Amino acid sequence: MGFWCPYSRFEPWPGSFGNLEFLNLSLELQSTMVERVAIILAAGVSNRMNTQMPKVLHEVCGRPMLAYVLDACREVGVERIYVVAGFGIEQVRERFDTASDIIWVQQEEQKGTAHAVLCCKEDLEDFDGETLVLCGDGPLIRAKTLKTLIEKYEASQSVVTLATAVLEDTAGYGRIIRDAYGNIAGIIEDADCTSEQRVVKEVNPSYYLFNNKVLFEAAEKVKPDNVKKEYYLTDAIALIIATGKKVIAVTAVRPDEAKGVNSRVELTEANKIMQRRIQWELMDNGVTIVDPDNTWIEKETQIGQDTVIEPFTYIHGEVKIGRGCRVGPFAYLRDGTVLEDDVVLGVFTEIKNSTLGKGARARHHSYIGDATVGKNVNIGAGSITANFDGEKVSRTTIGNDCYIGSGSVLIAPLELKDGSHISAGTVVSQEDINKFGRGSKTQ
Ligand code: UD1
Ligand code: MG
Repeated sequence: MGFWCPYSRFEPWPGSFGNLEFLNLSLELQSTMVERVAIILAAGVSNRMNTQMPKVLHEVCGRPMLAYVLDACREVGVERIYVVAGFGIEQVRERFDTASDIIWVQQEEQKGTAHAVLCCKEDLEDFDGETLVLCGDGPLIRAKTLKTLIEKYEASQSVVTLATAVLEDTAGYGRIIRDAYGNIAGIIEDADCTSEQRVVKEVNPSYYLFNNKVLFEAAEKVKPDNVKKEYYLTDAIALIIATGKKVIAVTAVRPDEAKGVNSRVELTEANKIMQRRIQWELMDNGVTIVDPDNTWIEKETQIGQDTVIEPFTYIHGEVKIGRGCRVGPFAYLRDGTVLEDDVVLGVFTEIKNSTLGKGARARHHSYIGDATVGKNVNIGAGSITANFDGEKVSRTTIGNDCYIGSGSVLIAPLELKDGSHISAGTVVSQEDINKFGRGSKTQ
């Protein structure tokens, strides 16, 4: 095999360009050789949210909006992500402090999206690669769409490719303006549209892939000539087109992922869309969700095959549920819950930071917090772990095959040995257990 440089005009051996496989390989090589970074714009103050909190920290199905955008970048192989933050930057950084692929950039004053990009100038001005630009308030983004964006960029050999969406309700979005040949001519922001432009249904969901140098050259030239007097990144598109360079817009974003979150109402709408995605994926993986509209399952939840989730169940945070379980109706599972296989939880059971062993049952009105519950344990109606003494939270350990009678209060810290039997209506402390000596007060 000879050495071949993807940018070389010379053939390494005669006739090799006639070989389709070779061409495919070289395209792949080319795409892997160009470095790609991402800029996520997340500095906005967000007056429309009416909030004291940075907008991108508002949660969609239990995770900050920004987390979804970061994940989408990672899924398409981006290893350096520049996050432009401003308002509440310390809070945002703190939330993502374990991520080593984020480079934080501060935008002191929020002067618009082009200005936000320019805040990365010091780091990126000389970068000879491709730059994805995305908004931190677009949590519904799919990595699959970013992949399409990258493929279209490469196939078209453009300097900018943007992915667009066609929406029924276009209020608030930049409109994609095309010329008589269907080529993109520019993007006009909602507030700046003429009445003719306002009826355009194709919008800008802010998914862009730029040749990095072209991006920074154009962003420098943007002027705040618009209703809001901001430096719009969307104006950079027309400026690049005017230089004769190739810009393409592909309609590749589904309406359900185009939605940016600018208000509390839009936050709720994004939550609904994400919730549906989470539930549909679980159902595809063999989970029965009896009434999806009356069930809430957050993003970090894992559920095994043939588990049934009954109506009015709320699952919050990082929760793992095994196979063949039955949960609800009216169950509340909180962060740190682990249910092994075949667990049954019935009405008004709340579980927090606890593991329930295979075949354990708590069918009615229980609170189990900070506990490790063994296999085949039966927790009777109305039994609870009293895990907080007013100062500290303590753990309860219940061995395998225990029977906890109805209306029992297990005062933590407490350890019940395998096979313990607690009669109905008992208040149990470790002191009692030690006194009675055989693992439980009522054995
Ligand atoms: C933006 C686009 C619009 C697009 C819509 C999609 C511009 C000018 N408009 O409008 O074409 O249809 O997103 O959701 O780009 N930000 C900063 N610094 C700033 C201003 C904004 O970092 O100075 C960040 C915000 O935090 C936000 C993102 O940029 O995450 C977009 O800003 P936002 O004000 O939400 O713009 P939109 O009006 O939604
Ligand atoms: Mg927005």
